[in-house]
Amino acid sequence: KALYQFNPLLLLSLLYNLGQNVTFKTQADLEKSFITIVWSKHSDEEGLQPIISLAGATVNVPEAYEGRVWLNRTNGRLKMGPTTAADDGEYSVSMVDDKAVTQTGERELRVLVPVSSVLIASSPLEALETNSTVVLNCSALGSFLDFSWTNGTTPLLGDGKRTSISNVNRWELRGPIGCSATNKLEKTMNSAPFNMSVHYGPEAVKMTSLPAVAAGGFVGRGSNMTLSCSAASAPPAALSWLHNGKALPGKTGPTLVLSDLGLTQGGTYKCSAHNAKTLRTVDAPVTGPAAGQLAGVAGGVNLTCGAAAGEVAQWAWLKDGAALPKDGRTTLLANGSMLRLLPLAKEHRGVYTCILKNAVNSVKAAYTLVVFYGPDSLTIRGESAVEVNDALTLTCSLDSNPTAAIKWRFNNTARTETTKVLTIATVAYRDTGLYTCQAYNAKTQRNASSTFMLSGALDPEGLSGGAIAGIVIGVLAAVLLAVGAFIYCKRKQT
Ligand SMILES: *[C@@H]1O[C@H](CO)[C@@H](O)[C@H](O)[C@H]1NC(C)=O
Ligand SMILES: *[C@@H]1O[C@H](CO)[C@@H](O)[C@H](O)[C@H]1NC(C)=O
Ligand SMILES: *[C@@H]1O[C@H](CO)[C@@H](O)[C@H](O)[C@H]1NC(C)=O
Ligand SMILES: *[C@@H]1O[C@H](CO)[C@@H](O)[C@H](O)[C@H]1NC(C)=O
Ligand SMILES: *[C@@H]1O[C@H](CO)[C@@H](O)[C@H](O)[C@H]1NC(C)=O
Ligand SMILES: *[C@@H]1O[C@H](CO)[C@@H](O)[C@H](O)[C@H]1NC(C)=O
Ligand SMILES: *[C@@H]1O[C@H](CO)[C@@H](O)[C@H](O)[C@H]1NC(C)=O
Ligand SMILES: *[C@@H]1O[C@H](CO)[C@@H](O)[C@H](O)[C@H]1NC(C)=O
Ligand SMILES: *[C@@H]1O[C@H](CO)[C@@H](O)[C@H](O)[C@H]1NC(C)=O
Ligand SMILES: *[C@@H]1O[C@H](CO)[C@@H](O)[C@H](O)[C@H]1NC(C)=O
Repeated sequence: KALYQFNPLLLLSLLYNLGQNVTFKTQADLEKSFITIVWSKHSDEEGLQPIISLAGATVNVPEAYEGRVWLNRTNGRLKMGPTTAADDGEYSVSMVDDKAVTQTGERELRVLVPVSSVLIASSPLEALETNSTVVLNCSALGSFLDFSWTNGTTPLLGDGKRTSISNVNRWELRGPIGCSATNKLEKTMNSAPFNMSVHYGPEAVKMTSLPAVAAGGFVGRGSNMTLSCSAASAPPAALSWLHNGKALPGKTGPTLVLSDLGLTQGGTYKCSAHNAKTLRTVDAPVTGPAAGQLAGVAGGVNLTCGAAAGEVAQWAWLKDGAALPKDGRTTLLANGSMLRLLPLAKEHRGVYTCILKNAVNSVKAAYTLVVFYGPDSLTIRGESAVEVNDALTLTCSLDSNPTAAIKWRFNNTARTETTKVLTIATVAYRDTGLYTCQAYNAKTQRNASSTFMLSGALDPEGLSGGAIAGIVIGVLAAVLLAVGAFIYCKRKQT
């Protein structure tokens, strides 16, 4: 049976500036007069420390307790205050009466420190998706604390101060995760919201081009093109670029601008994504532009159509929005993924649409095929004879892509006209002769020419006096000959 009653009041400490006074009561026999009373505190570090001792009329208080303890010598009660956190501990009393009988008692005092500084710490500080187990520790100042965890608004199971998540995924710690610490006074404090980024990726590394070019497609020489790359990654992936398997030095970041494309820039472009935390590198394969040139009707052309991602079950093709022509020069190969144009003819020019289908959806891509040809079917039209002083118009007609450069010649000397139509406003006799139209296609590097003979028209007024005399003499001589012959024949008959 204890000699004194422990005051069950829960006490606040000086940390609040609200230190309460505690009274340790005894149930000592008040009839007795005590010769000595000694109150002590027990601590693990310092052992038994006296707080106040009374012997006869003398009271002794150690320096540490001066002004904080009062003893009622009649009933042995100890009053102490204001309490501090350091007062937490076990107390004992020893009282000796005039018959030299000693009575002792002990009690525990708990001084509650209010809860503060609630913090969440994670171990490790950074986590990789799937491979890491993350342990979250909640720490707080204060005594006799209970901890609880929340994820957003839902409770999270934890083992007191700790909660651990194994094979953590990228979403699990986006939280916000909270920890609350509660002491026996029912005071609760929450931690700051905690979230943690779990490293993952790169994943779904994708590359696109502007203008959109189908895998293995063509872009015009001299054109510009922008390739863009994206990746799902935390932290964001470092993106770099490769051309035909070789790193392009200094080309990093989400876009690669290719300008004034030349033949050497054709080939395969790749974007490579690297995550410095997961140490993973993932390439996005996309066939880049084949900066080719289609020249001449002699060679063939293959158009291939493929999807950057996914499985293709079926291919379909259209030319200029209609079914493919059955011309024997347009063939489907490789289950329809390739269209072979051989031999290439000018009729092959146009817009080819490829439709890719699978069980889920259908996508389209269009490609404009430009065919360079000619000059073909070159002819000159015009009147082959005109009157002097009339106008002469010669038209050179031809088929060529791109437009051919025209030159005219007359009797093997060059003329200045460079248009398809040659006009002479007033024709003179000297304009009769051979006209040539010459056409040159710079893309096909072919020449073609055609000729036209302009025969003159006679103009008597234009003859000289000598010529007229000659004609008259000639006619007279003919008449004389005829008359002479007639007379000679008549005589022979006779
Ligand atoms: C000491 O306790 C007695 C008995 O309870 C009481 O009458 C007395 O007033 C107390 N003395 C002091 C100084 O508080
Ligand atoms: C969490 O607490 C435990 C013991 O309570 C300790 O061993 C561990 O290092 C702590 N981890 C962190 C991240 O504070
Ligand atoms: C993650 O775990 C897998 C399988 O256990 C292992 O192959 C991989 O190397 C690990 N990754 C890291 C970064 O430790
Ligand atoms: C926390 O909540 C989010 C959203 O509800 C959830 O995706 C995630 O898995 C949760 N994390 C844990 C550790 O339970
Ligand atoms: C934690 O959440 C805040 C706000 O929701 C956000 O700004 C921050 O980036 C997040 N931090 C991490 C490491 O995810
Ligand atoms: C390509 O870009 C350059 C500027 O970088 C511009 O001068 C040029 O006109 C562009 N060419 C085409 C075909 O758009
Ligand atoms: C077109 O494809 C066929 C079959 O794969 C191949 O033999 C031919 O060389 C290709 N032609 C061109 C111009 O690439
Ligand atoms: C054509 O399709 C068949 C069956 O789907 C496949 O086995 C074959 O390899 C394909 N041929 C080509 C050239 O892609
Ligand atoms: C052009 O050639 C024709 C036929 O060869 C000839 O008759 C004509 O005199 C020539 N004209 C000139 C101006 O040389
Ligand atoms: C075509 O004609 C041009 C000039 O008219 C000339 O420079 C070129 O050599 C000719 N090419 C051929 C293949 O005859």
